[in-house]
Amino acid sequence: RIAYVNGCYVPHNQAAVHIEDRGYQFADGVYEVCEIADGYIIDMTRHLERLNRSLSELQMAWPVNKEAFVHIVKEVVVRNRVRNGLVYIQVTRGVAKRDHVFPEPATKSALVITARRSDPAIAEMKLKTGVGVITVPENRWDRVDIKTVGLLPNVMAKQKAKEQGAAEAWFVDADGMVKEGGSTNAWIVTQDGTLVTRPADHGILRGITRATAIDAASTLGLKFEERPFSVEEAKNAREAFITAATTILIPVISIDGDSVANGHPGSITEQLRSQFRLEVE
Ligand code: PDD
Repeated sequence: RIAYVNGCYVPHNQAAVHIEDRGYQFADGVYEVCEIADGYIIDMTRHLERLNRSLSELQMAWPVNKEAFVHIVKEVVVRNRVRNGLVYIQVTRGVAKRDHVFPEPATKSALVITARRSDPAIAEMKLKTGVGVITVPENRWDRVDIKTVGLLPNVMAKQKAKEQGAAEAWFVDADGMVKEGGSTNAWIVTQDGTLVTRPADHGILRGITRATAIDAASTLGLKFEERPFSVEEAKNAREAFITAATTILIPVISIDGDSVANGHPGSITEQLRSQFRLEVE
């Protein structure tokens, strides 16, 4: 495997960044994960827009210009011969003597890109069987709309989920409303067939897959509402599911051990999943 690190394509097992990289010391960096399907990077434009927003919110510069950037991302995918998988993009504020404030003069931001294949059989199985989620109190900062590499609360939450035999942990706010998963957005389908997901304000990450799901819902003529929903409402919903570039769309069949509806993936979730490939650019 080949990775891109600050201007060089290097063997993956030798790819390294400096110990004083601010991503390493302060989680002072942002990232994107894009799906690769049939050799194409899915929703590249939306990922670039979100990366641009994350960078500007943190007053970080693009590591290279956008044309070069797109070229490098594609090159990493090609060099790794990935037809179906993921590409990981990380930009940090660069290498400087450890000091919390931004380095002056500004350091060159550091760019790392990796790509790997994924096993479509695993995704297919999860789609058939569905997964369980647990709920955890929200304990992240209030700017989770910025896709930063500071993911420790997400790591702890997802580890807890795993230990309880679940695939995802949903962060729940002080009012008992579901925010999103540790690495996915959260959705329900109400008894009358309306798709519901939380508005993408500062409280959640504006998922790219979430946006595609909204497009797919509209194409299919499904009712859609952007509003918060409670854990209780989710448990009593007709269907529930999660979305992310890594998993696309996966049915949720239980929440904290209580089954959602009859405990099987629902038909609207399946319908939406089938529409996905037709929506993306
Ligand atoms: N995570 N919410 C959170 C907290 C996420 O980390 C992610 C993505 C999403 C879904 O966003 P998208 O549809 O753009 O992938 C929602 C990536 C995949 C990750 O950390 O691996």
